[in-house]
Amino acid sequence: MDKIIIHGGRRLEGEVRISGSKNAALPILMSSLLTEGVNTYANVPDLRDIDSTLLLLAKLGVRVDAGAGTVRIDAGGLNSHEAPYDLVRKMRASVLVLGPLVARLGRARVSLPGGCAIGARPINLHLRALAALGADITLDHGYVTASASRLKGAEIYFDLVTVTGTENIMMAAVLADGTTVLRNAACEPEVVALADVLNRMGAEISGAGTPDITIRGVSGLHAVAADIIPDRIETGTFMTAAALTGGLVTIRNCEPNHVGATIDKLRQAGAEIRVEGRTITVRGGDKILSVDIKTQPYPGFPTDMQAQFMVLMSVAEGVSVISETIFENRFIHVSELRRLGADIRVSGNTATVRGVARLSGAPVMATDLRASACLVLAGLVAENTTEVQRVYHLDRGYEALERKFAGLGAAIRRVR
Ligand code: EPU
Repeated sequence: MDKIIIHGGRRLEGEVRISGSKNAALPILMSSLLTEGVNTYANVPDLRDIDSTLLLLAKLGVRVDAGAGTVRIDAGGLNSHEAPYDLVRKMRASVLVLGPLVARLGRARVSLPGGCAIGARPINLHLRALAALGADITLDHGYVTASASRLKGAEIYFDLVTVTGTENIMMAAVLADGTTVLRNAACEPEVVALADVLNRMGAEISGAGTPDITIRGVSGLHAVAADIIPDRIETGTFMTAAALTGGLVTIRNCEPNHVGATIDKLRQAGAEIRVEGRTITVRGGDKILSVDIKTQPYPGFPTDMQAQFMVLMSVAEGVSVISETIFENRFIHVSELRRLGADIRVSGNTATVRGVARLSGAPVMATDLRASACLVLAGLVAENTTEVQRVYHLDRGYEALERKFAGLGAAIRRVR
């Protein structure tokens, strides 16, 4: 299995280009199921989760053609309504076929995703919303089956803000009979990106990006050509790495409006940040100051940046309190950071991080994508050598992470 080896202590300097967003690309690729004709998507990142998505679409009978950041999808041959356990197990976001398949074929059978390293992550809200649209839902042998000859528009109130739940139901409702209103919908940029693509396909969605989304059902959608938006979590990860190493990094091809909370926290931590168009320049301060963070749905501080920010706080001056409010078990990186010398105490959903003068390299591993990214960041500042194992987690969601860091002057390499 691959591992990443880092000799810490180098200041990052130079330019890095941000890839397309994983979490925007996944639902947009799935939305092709709603159309006839050939959809063309550009700026699609080269990631394992994208490969899993394309494999799933191919299993459903869809024609997929991918290369050099462009993916063409023709769902004309769609002939299956089942997402099997083997694929859903590898990628929870496979549940995003549920909404489009019921809308297009009147039926979907999808393996229930189990819990994962960061929490139980049920899909009860997706199912309750589909039932509100008139789908008949049954659970058997680890699969959920949803069926409806045609979904009917309804007013749906989400108990919790759910990103893929909002996306799934938006895709279900676009072909429903009548109008659907989603209340307490997720406001994440990935939801807006999906709504934009659906609208270009002929859907009638308004309010995406606010907690109230209105979807007027239409009778059919057509294929489109669309670009995937830049990845805001990759952007935040590079910004944090620049601040962490006292570096000077210019981040190109990003969307600064999507990373407001991270920019704000990094400035409070002492970094100097300049924004010009689609470019962000981060200059690390002389010292790193402690700041508190609390993860929240967008536009709050993203849970997907919590682990990376914790590394920064591990070497800050003072004490930082980090509260994780989205997932119940998203501190799996803490014990690994402690092995590198970090002083972190966890009580419930709060981590108290006392900055230390230095981290020292060691072999580490994590069981989740962002936790793995946090360990790479830790390796960039730790003394001597850090070996990050289970790299396949990183490959799920960061395109060429080690090559991008190497391009900024880090001593980092992958060994097979
Ligand atoms: N939840 C429920 N019931 C549901 C749905 C969600 O209880 O039916 C709970 C979850 O267990 C969690 C909270 O609601 O405690 C929020 O979960 P959400 O549904 O918003 O998460 P998600 O849609 O499964 C997406 C991203 C995650 C990101 C979260 C939060 C994708 C494919 N995944 O997951 O990304 O952390 O939103 O922003 O968009 C990552 O990229 O590393 C990643 C985990």
